[in-house]
Order: sequence, then C-alpha cells, then structure tokens
Amino acid sequence: MKARKIDNNVFWVGAVDWDRRLFDSLIPLPDGTSYNSYLVRGSEKAALIDTVDPSMTSFLLSRLDELGTTKLDYLIANHAEQDHSGSLPAVVDRFPMAKVVTTPKGKKMLIDLLRLPEDAFITVEDGEQLSLGDKTLRFIHTPWVHWPETMVTYLPEDRILFSCDFFGSHLAMSSLYTEDTARLCEAAKAYYAQVMMPFRAAIRKNLEKIQPYRIDVIAPSHGPVHRDSACILRSHQDWVSDALSNSVVLPYISMHGSTQLMADHLADALTERGVQVQKFNLAVADTGKLAAALVDAATVVVGSPMVLAGAHPSVISAVFLANALRPKLRFASIIGSYGWGGKMVEHITGTMSNLKVELLEPVLVQGHPREEDLQALERLAEAIAAKHHEAGIG
Ligand code: FEO
Repeated sequence: MKARKIDNNVFWVGAVDWDRRLFDSLIPLPDGTSYNSYLVRGSEKAALIDTVDPSMTSFLLSRLDELGTTKLDYLIANHAEQDHSGSLPAVVDRFPMAKVVTTPKGKKMLIDLLRLPEDAFITVEDGEQLSLGDKTLRFIHTPWVHWPETMVTYLPEDRILFSCDFFGSHLAMSSLYTEDTARLCEAAKAYYAQVMMPFRAAIRKNLEKIQPYRIDVIAPSHGPVHRDSACILRSHQDWVSDALSNSVVLPYISMHGSTQLMADHLADALTERGVQVQKFNLAVADTGKLAAALVDAATVVVGSPMVLAGAHPSVISAVFLANALRPKLRFASIIGSYGWGGKMVEHITGTMSNLKVELLEPVLVQGHPREEDLQALERLAEAIAAKHHEAGIG
C-alpha cells in the first residue's frame, strides 16, 4: 500500500500489519491491524501526525520519501504508546529540525519510553493551535482515550479529526475506507470494549468535548478512516450510554460435560423467556468477542467446574478481564458442577469486585445435573428475565 491522499495536502503514510495476531501480548487481533500516520502539508510548514509501530518504521519512511518529503516541522504525538510513537526516534533522526508536539504528560511518558531528549519537544495545552500556513492544527486534550496523556488533533480547514486510538478498530485492509459497515462496526465495538470501555465516563466526556467541532472525516490511527463520521460517533454514544440490552453473556468451561449441560440448559431456558444469550466456551472463545458482548449486556452468568477447591483457571482469567474492563452489567450469577466441595462462588465473586452487580442465586450441582438441578436453572432464567423486566430492559 502506497501513500494515499485523504484531502488536499493530507496523506496517509502509515503501515498495515496483516500478520499481527496479538496486541499488548493480550488482545487477539483476528484481522490484523494498521498503524495510521498522516502527513499534513500547509503552505508554510509540514506536520506528521503519529508514527507507526517500530517494527514497521521502514514503511513510514519510504512513504514519506515517496511523497518527496525533505522537511518536517512538527511531529504530533497524540498518544505515547509505542504502536504510535515507536518510530519517533527514527523520524527525529531523519528530520532533526522537527519538534515533537504533545501534551505535558505525553512529553514525560515519551521521554520515559523512548529516551528522547528534552529539547526535542514542544508541549501544547488544551485548545492550543499551531499554524502550518493555510492549515491549522488544533490540539484537544482527551485524557484516557487510551492513556492519561492522550489528545486528538483537529484540522479545521478540512474538518478532519485525527483521533489516534479513539474511534479505532483493529482491521488490516488494503483500502483506506470501507463500505462494509457491518464488519467495521463489529471490529470497532470489539476495539472499544478492549481499549476504551474501562474509561467509559472519560470517553463520554470526551465525546461531549468534541461535539462542537464540525467533523467530516475521522482519521484514527488503527483501522479504516471514517468518511461518515456520524456513524462511528453514534455508535460510541450508544456504547458509553447507560442503555442495556436484554441479553446474558455466558462464559463457561466444562471438563466432563456437567457444566456444559448446565450452560446449554440455562441458555435454552433464557431464550424461551425472550432473553438473548451469547455463550462463550472459554476453551475456544475469542476474548475480543467476549469483551464486545459485554459492552451492553445486562447480565453475566459464569459457568465453571470446581478445580482444586476453586473455579477453573480459564474462568478466573476471563472474570479478571471482565472485571478490569468494567462493563455496565447490572446482574450476575454463577453456575457449575463440583465433585466434593470448595469455594468456587467466593473465588469468582472475589475476582469481580469492580462490577457493581446484584448477584442472583448461584446454581451449583454435585456431579452430573439431576432433574431438580435443571429446575433450579429454570428458576435462575426466570429470575433473570424478571430482573430485566423490572429494570425496563426486557
Ligand atoms: Fe494504539 Fe494505546 O495504542
């Protein structure tokens, strides 16, 4: 993929990482990702907005060469994480007169992470602007999209918002834009769930903060550029809102089939009562899809067999992740099977302390479920449906 023109004197000069399958050694990337970097040329000065992952520096430099770039004045660092900042040292080497422009917190982080010298920086306050001649860059501090130092950059003359992680999606594509809105929305929701959801209150404030700006195009630093900014803005408004869906997320694992049977029975019982179920067998599930399901679900039911007096380690890992992501769940319960005893309920509830949920009566079964155990699952389904109804969800 060569450098691409987005608007008059605005170019994409990033890198597409088709093969990356894990981000932060944690987040699955089934569709790869991209590191979008943008070149903005004004009549007097030129700026590069964000760089790329250090593994792909050569792509960025060759795209700048391809556009005949001999001088850069500003290197805008919207975010200090290395997938966007990691090529800065190489770019500073190539363009030594360019200043790195970032927030005061961003400067400290970039010095800590990349050991860049103090005098390489200009810091900008919230709302500050830099003129490139016939183009202007306005910096809007937007903390916690994804780290505390983050900002976005607005180009008023072309009504483009360069948002870095904000409004991103992990999708490797050969084109800058996509008409496949269903695929984009699914990827953007998974991305929001894993990167932004823990900071939902801050994201909501930042959405309000950018609302007065006339934005035609949102150019994030992962995934496609949004030519229809209204669509991705609307999706984010939905995700950060307090609205819940009439659905249950059911992550579970089974060793000998008992918990599987319970999960299947509960899922059927909920479906019969009009409650949607998203079931995730944690032995094979994509945790990105699990995170996306948690964005607006009202209830989570965790299914586990007892292992060494506690929950299965894969279940604890998933509950730990859900707890860290802080979804807006209202209700929770636990189902599972045990051989001789243990403290599975305490183990699981002790791992979900961030979740402000009402715990509905767990259903634990010794050995294989009997008829009365299946009846207990029916009662749990009934209780969930009633709670959703009372909360105005069902
Ligand atoms: Fe894409 Fe927080 O870095």
